[in-house]
Amino acid sequence: MSAVPRSLLPDTATVSDDGSLSIGGCDVAELAARYGTPLFVYDEEHMRARCREALDAFGDGCAIYATKAFLCMAMARLAHEEGMLLDVASGGELHVVMSAGVPPSSCTFHGNNKSIGELRTALQVGVRHVVVDSFDELDRLDALHVAGEGRVPDVLLRITPGVHAHTHDFIATGQNDSKFGFNLDNGDAARAVEQARRSPSVSLVGLHCHIGSNVFAVDSFGRAAEVMAAFAGPFDLPELVLGGGLGVASVEGEMAPTITEWAATVHDACRAAGVGATISAEPGRAIVAAAALTVYTVGTVKPIPGVRTYVAVDGGMSDNPRPVLYGSGYEAFVPLHVDTLRTHRARVVGKHCESGDVLLFDALLPADLNVGDLLAVPATGAYAQSMGSNYNKIPRPPVVFVRNGHDRLVVRRETYDDLLASDVG
Ligand code: LLP
Repeated sequence: MSAVPRSLLPDTATVSDDGSLSIGGCDVAELAARYGTPLFVYDEEHMRARCREALDAFGDGCAIYATKAFLCMAMARLAHEEGMLLDVASGGELHVVMSAGVPPSSCTFHGNNKSIGELRTALQVGVRHVVVDSFDELDRLDALHVAGEGRVPDVLLRITPGVHAHTHDFIATGQNDSKFGFNLDNGDAARAVEQARRSPSVSLVGLHCHIGSNVFAVDSFGRAAEVMAAFAGPFDLPELVLGGGLGVASVEGEMAPTITEWAATVHDACRAAGVGATISAEPGRAIVAAAALTVYTVGTVKPIPGVRTYVAVDGGMSDNPRPVLYGSGYEAFVPLHVDTLRTHRARVVGKHCESGDVLLFDALLPADLNVGDLLAVPATGAYAQSMGSNYNKIPRPPVVFVRNGHDRLVVRRETYDDLLASDVG
């Protein structure tokens, strides 16, 4: 039995005398009334503060926002304005970022299976780095070079360091059994460095690794840094990018290291290993996860005596598939009564046509929760909106940025006509 922990709310969250929640000086219930639910509310100050922390911790030119965590034009601009570089992992992410006016020279281009078209675009627009993931990609870059398409790119090689991050298997990427990168253990990594160095099609400027996402144990990052430092040492390359992956708390009792603590661990490990290269990082979740909450309206409450109670809201796995995909945990609370003790257990589900459509498997909720109440889920700023879908042809929710008492709609709610936009007959 507890109220929602304030530590899970965005930085600028305040609770007024009547118990209602404001973020960025904006009343959350009022935003819900105006924009409808489900609704993503993002605290702009919170995101800007995390960008600045990343820049302070890793240094100018060494803090790269991983746009897959949450991307729209306003977000691309925000990260760029704060001085971060941007990691894009597809032609689509590059398109959104460039449409926002961010220069491609601020972008790192990722992907384990970049198409020839994506690589051609990356070379033509002039991204800062292409992070090469496979021998097949080196071959595609050779083919583009022979065809005279675009300049010779500065590349990093993505190395799989054989370090197992403590996280869900689906988002662990540093272990040998991985689709990503050149394995260090079997000699592929060393062979890739040799091939890239000899190749006239690429200019090798450094190495990259990313061991996984939502990692809470910073020693995993330290271990990856040590392994990468030992491997990179003899090659004497100017850049070492150690990926993203810092975890963010989303349930009561969870404690995540700060960006500053993460950077200190990584820098200590690199210093101890005598790394001379510039060290960069690519945080996604750590910048945006805790900045947002999703606001829903309760539509049905179904108690099944002796079994459980189901509380259904007006969204679900289409605005946050993380609980279904990874079993991720969240908290829920009533934004009009933030400090109400949550005494009743229930399963919070969505409105999709399957039993797996769960948002909170075993939520603590206020006893007097009723149909029509608003229900907010904090720490949904990363990989919820960005992994959303139109399952059951449910239009995706809008995104509102709040700051200093002002709100601005940055992504509007999809309409039913949007659902037909790509149908041709
Ligand atoms: N760099 C690379 C090369 C990555 O693949 C990723 C994430 C990041 C940086 C950023 O990681 P972050 O700091 O956000 O953990 N959908 C999953 C997370 C997938 C992460 C994929 N790569 C989730 O909802 O937990």
